[in-house]
Amino acid sequence: MKEPKHIFLIGFMGSGKSTVGALLAERLNLPFMDSDKEIEKVAGKRVGLIFEQDGEAAFRTMEMNFIRGLESEKQSIIAVGGGLPAIEGALELMHQTGLVIYLNTSLLTLLRRLKEERTERPLLSALSDSEFHPFVEDLLSQRVHFYKQAKLIMPNERNSPIEIVDKLEKELIKLNF
Ligand code: S3P
Repeated sequence: MKEPKHIFLIGFMGSGKSTVGALLAERLNLPFMDSDKEIEKVAGKRVGLIFEQDGEAAFRTMEMNFIRGLESEKQSIIAVGGGLPAIEGALELMHQTGLVIYLNTSLLTLLRRLKEERTERPLLSALSDSEFHPFVEDLLSQRVHFYKQAKLIMPNERNSPIEIVDKLEKELIKLNF
């Protein structure tokens, strides 16, 4: 396998990928990308509108195209949408171009965080209160085995983002990154 170039942060919605990713990029003096934001730039519209107008399958194709385009990009820290690692072939591509890190957050913490922001997320916004918990639990259980294929698994529960970045920096040194 080639030397890892990028660092990919994967995990469920609400696991802290964008916050931790931006801080880690600052710490390592590398550019930061968020797959949702990059896709929004290319599509010229918000992720919510892509889901509404083009459908989820079209969004997943855009996510895959984003990952494919990274081989020629300079080294970056990349926060990846929660559903991207479940797309066929996506994890293999990420492993080929970088080091994949899973921010592992428990169901209860995710539910607490996502409850506040669920209107901004197309997969969650239409759910009633009674549908919300089982939906998140089910989707997480479908995705966990993809996330667990990461090279590094970093719990992200009660630590501050800075503490997570400190821990990641130590782990990256151990991995000679
Ligand atoms: C999704 C996660 C979102 C975004 C889209 C779909 C998912 O990204 O890509 O709403 O399928 O889990 P975040 O994980 O950054 O919230």
